[in-house]
Amino acid sequence: MQSGEIAQWVVDAQSAFQGAKDLDELKLARLAHLGDKSAIAGASRSLGNVEPSQKAELGKAIGEAKSAITIALETATQLLEVQRDARVLVDEVVDITLPPARAHKGGLHPITIIKNEISDFFIEQGFSVAEGPELESGWLNFDALNIPADHPARTMQDTFFIEPLESGMVLRTQTSPVQIRTMLTQEPPIYIISPGRTFRADELDSTHSPVFHQVEGLVIDKEITMAHLKGTLDAFAAHMFGSDAKTRLRPSFFPFTEPSAEVDLFFNGRWIEWGGCGMVNPKVLATCGIDTEIYSGFAFGMGLERTLMVRHGISDMHEIVEGDIRFTQQFGIGL
Ligand code: DAH
Repeated sequence: MQSGEIAQWVVDAQSAFQGAKDLDELKLARLAHLGDKSAIAGASRSLGNVEPSQKAELGKAIGEAKSAITIALETATQLLEVQRDARVLVDEVVDITLPPARAHKGGLHPITIIKNEISDFFIEQGFSVAEGPELESGWLNFDALNIPADHPARTMQDTFFIEPLESGMVLRTQTSPVQIRTMLTQEPPIYIISPGRTFRADELDSTHSPVFHQVEGLVIDKEITMAHLKGTLDAFAAHMFGSDAKTRLRPSFFPFTEPSAEVDLFFNGRWIEWGGCGMVNPKVLATCGIDTEIYSGFAFGMGLERTLMVRHGISDMHEIVEGDIRFTQQFGIGL
């Protein structure tokens, strides 16, 4: 082994390192010229066999060559790292002026939003939310509510009857059957609201829809009077329509309440009809096995579509049922 040979290894290594175009190529060059299988590593290993007289000189030459190769490697590494970093900065540049790719997450329908709002309000007052099926027995939807068999609401024009007709099943025309379900299964005191979907054989027009929503309220306790009903309705109205909103009761008739009243709402400077209410008819309480000597109660019911339309000045029911997101988006996502 001659020193000229060793010098050539250094030159070869230097040019291989300089010729490397990236850090991967440099790694291969490093293994070839400085790795275990490189000429210089082989020379180091064979130093043991060299004659003692030459050993020191050759060892020194090999050591110097190794450090020269190592320095060349470091230089090349630094250069290629700087180049790589500069390239990454260009490749991964982020244009912060680009519009963000926002995914539309979807939102709740305004009817669901107002339903949740009403539920939250009554839950705060200590009520529970009760639910009942949309496919309801005629007995619960009508008879138990003291609606006689010959009542006009029970005709084909108003009610969707379910075949076979002998099944006695209907699409519930009101949320009031949930009152009965609750009174049959729970002991007073009862404080519930029941929001939900209801059905009537109406054509869709600007104020009607065959599928709509109501919220029912029911309170059964000792010494409940109409004053409690009025106070509850006033608080409900103030919550939904602002503190200036008031309610007024007008005598009316519902088979399941006695006395019964229409609830009018004073909003935006005028009185409008909002729903129905009354003291639960003792006949209904008795049907449900509630002792009318001990308990009395009130009930109310109103349309969610109507509540939404009045509050937001919506004049056409189509807006609510058609699901055009240009309409629904105005109410936010409601979450
Ligand atoms: N169920 C009635 C309807 O659909 C609304 C109603 C009136 C509900 C008076 C009540 C009530 O709870 O007390 O027209």
